[in-house]
Amino acid sequence: MAKDWTPSSWRAKPVMQMPDYPDPAALAETEKRLASFPPLVFAGEARKLTRALGEVAEGRAFLLQGGDCAESFAEHGADNIRDFFRAFLQMAIVLTFAGAQPVVKVGRIAGQFAKPRSSDTETKDGQTLPAYRGDIVNGIEFDAASRIPNPERQIMAYRQSAATLNLLRAFAQGGYANLDNVHQWMLGFVAGSPEAERYRALADKISETMGFMRAIGIDAENHPSLRETDFFTSHEALLLGYEEAMTRVDSTSGDWYSTSGHMIWIGDRTRQLDHAHVEFCRGVKNPLGLKCGPSSDPDDLIRLIDRLNPENKAGRLTLITRFGHERVEECLPKLIRAVEREGRKVVWSCDPMHGNTITLNRYKTRPFERILAEVEAFFEVHRAEGTHPGGIHIEMTGKDVTECTGGARPILAEDLSDRYHTHCDPRLNANQALELAFLVAELLKKDHAAAEMKVKAAG
Ligand code: PEP
Ligand code: CO
Repeated sequence: MAKDWTPSSWRAKPVMQMPDYPDPAALAETEKRLASFPPLVFAGEARKLTRALGEVAEGRAFLLQGGDCAESFAEHGADNIRDFFRAFLQMAIVLTFAGAQPVVKVGRIAGQFAKPRSSDTETKDGQTLPAYRGDIVNGIEFDAASRIPNPERQIMAYRQSAATLNLLRAFAQGGYANLDNVHQWMLGFVAGSPEAERYRALADKISETMGFMRAIGIDAENHPSLRETDFFTSHEALLLGYEEAMTRVDSTSGDWYSTSGHMIWIGDRTRQLDHAHVEFCRGVKNPLGLKCGPSSDPDDLIRLIDRLNPENKAGRLTLITRFGHERVEECLPKLIRAVEREGRKVVWSCDPMHGNTITLNRYKTRPFERILAEVEAFFEVHRAEGTHPGGIHIEMTGKDVTECTGGARPILAEDLSDRYHTHCDPRLNANQALELAFLVAELLKKDHAAAEMKVKAAG
């Protein structure tokens, strides 16, 4: 167990990005109630994810992590969850097939509610109000009452997470993810797009393979891995009072686990070594993510790694890099070299979203070509350094939104206002997400071929 750590030891540390609740007694009461609620996830599941990520760290698997920037109470519905899961499964199957590697599936979902903000306030038409910090904290509507942090929202977020997770578990284990359904995962609006053709061709190949396997006696009836999949949840562990309330001792191991989600991560703005977010995360045994940006210093990074993963366990820590497409070559190699020099085991994952945000026609957006460019640069740097480009971390939805520009069926600047629904950052729509998956699959295939050549040459 972590030394001198308790679920509340973060409270003695400096903390950033925390809301100012006007009624501390009501907040404490809410946290007490939350602490008595059932866990959302189990320690054994978190351990399973750590093992799967350990395979990624060793170069034998790939991590796909994605979902909303911010889940919202307004968008909570079965259709949204199903469409997200379907788009996510399509991406995963493209990556598994082309990369010929297991894909570890982690949603930014069932708990991704709290948002760090660049400014504490927002000003509109001469009126200044507290910034929106995610539905778990306050309301997005621009009026004074909505922006007051309300603890009751934590209970609502907990209940929404439970309902979302319930449906996701059913989809993952209850037959929806059966590989026999690979054609049915086509979304209506994807059907007319260039990706649809590529996806259909791939689905045909999978169906053909399934037919062959059935003929030799291997089918979904007798092989659960053909009809079920492991799907995990994750979110930024930002609202520490909520996280503390959801932290429980696992009776099997005696260790502390966050039961608010399988994996939690520390954001780019709250990763100071001696601050509260790092303090909280170091003590729970869940797999952790750590965002790294242009301001990440190699020596600081090693200190953070040692604080968060002192046992140097593969799969415990995922470094999620988000530099912006033009800065990957400048920023990433020095971090990789420090980690390699010190022999630290990490998963390297690329978040091509957060460093590529611009404003167009007063909309926050991300040009799809810059997102692709960051992913390509990430793969290139890892190839040059001889390390494993372990995964991608993206903001996406299964809906046909118009939030990021570009793509094979391009969204133009003037389209942004059509279906701009996000509660925070712009997300890839299902078409763009699938297009990205095909690109990453190509990159994985290239790496795979290069690795096989090396083995042949050595043999
Ligand atoms: C996010 O993932 O939504 C986010 C706020 O990212 P970052 O901490 O990298 O800015
Ligand atoms: Co975001």
